[in-house]
Amino acid sequence: MTTADLSKKPDEVAGMFDEVAKGYDRTNALLSGGNSVLWRIATVKALDLKPGERVLDVAAGTGTSSKALHKTGATVVALDFSPGMVAEGRKRHPDIEFVEGDAEELPFPSASFDAVTISFGLRNVNQPQVAIGEMYRVLKPGGRIVICEFSHPAAPIVRAGYQGYMKYVMPAVTALSSSHKDAYRYLMDSINEWPEQRVLSQWLRAAGFTRVAYRNLTGGIVALHRARSPEDSKVRESIGKRRSRPASPSTSSVSVPIQDISPPTS
Ligand SMILES: C[S@@+](CC[C@H](N)C(=O)[O-])C[C@H]1O[C@@H](n2cnc3c(N)ncnc32)[C@H](O)[C@@H]1O
Repeated sequence: MTTADLSKKPDEVAGMFDEVAKGYDRTNALLSGGNSVLWRIATVKALDLKPGERVLDVAAGTGTSSKALHKTGATVVALDFSPGMVAEGRKRHPDIEFVEGDAEELPFPSASFDAVTISFGLRNVNQPQVAIGEMYRVLKPGGRIVICEFSHPAAPIVRAGYQGYMKYVMPAVTALSSSHKDAYRYLMDSINEWPEQRVLSQWLRAAGFTRVAYRNLTGGIVALHRARSPEDSKVRESIGKRRSRPASPSTSSVSVPIQDISPPTS
């Protein structure tokens, strides 16, 4: 089977998801111990969608994340680059529009969505910061982004328990429920390699997002990041210009200090 490694070559990642497409949701529900339902509810709540709004679900897979969004009355566009996941999604959710495309090069005009979201997808993208820039581009001024992704538990005891779960329980569960054990080995490694909550917040700010905040779910096993695209079109324009300028050698290696993050109230 195709198994991606942590270099996340797009062809290998897409091929790996093509092969797990059919059993993907069942294995995930088992691996999360039922928590995935709660994580999806929190994501939809954070997006605060209104009927008629247009929302883009990036890396939508088989559309389980998109289905939860669709129930709000918003118009959902589900995008994924794995033909296998998209085919399965179209079969399961004929009332949702699926588009085959790359998160790093979204096939939509600028400022065409009220909200953008990505659940358990950004970690798999080869260049996540490029994808964040693309999500910024397709958002209307004042538009919302919500990222739901595996993260790093803050409390040492939860962290240790989670590491033990990934090392011993996860392989046993995947051996029972999926024939693609290697894909779930990739899942574990990619979670361990993924940056901490504050770093993802910093990536969002660097892309131009404002009001960046995050909330830990299930002790930080998952983190929900939310932010807004600036309302002011002049601010958006100047950020766009800044991003399109090549980085000068004097600034490209300077890391921006991480600012304090106020957790969202809901
Ligand atoms: C773990 S699944 C998540 C699916 C769904 N969002 C959910 O919550 O169940 C990750 C998805 O990311 C997709 N993906 C990874 N890199 C991508 C990229 N560059 N562009 C579009 N989709 C991508 C994979 O094909 C896969 O379907």
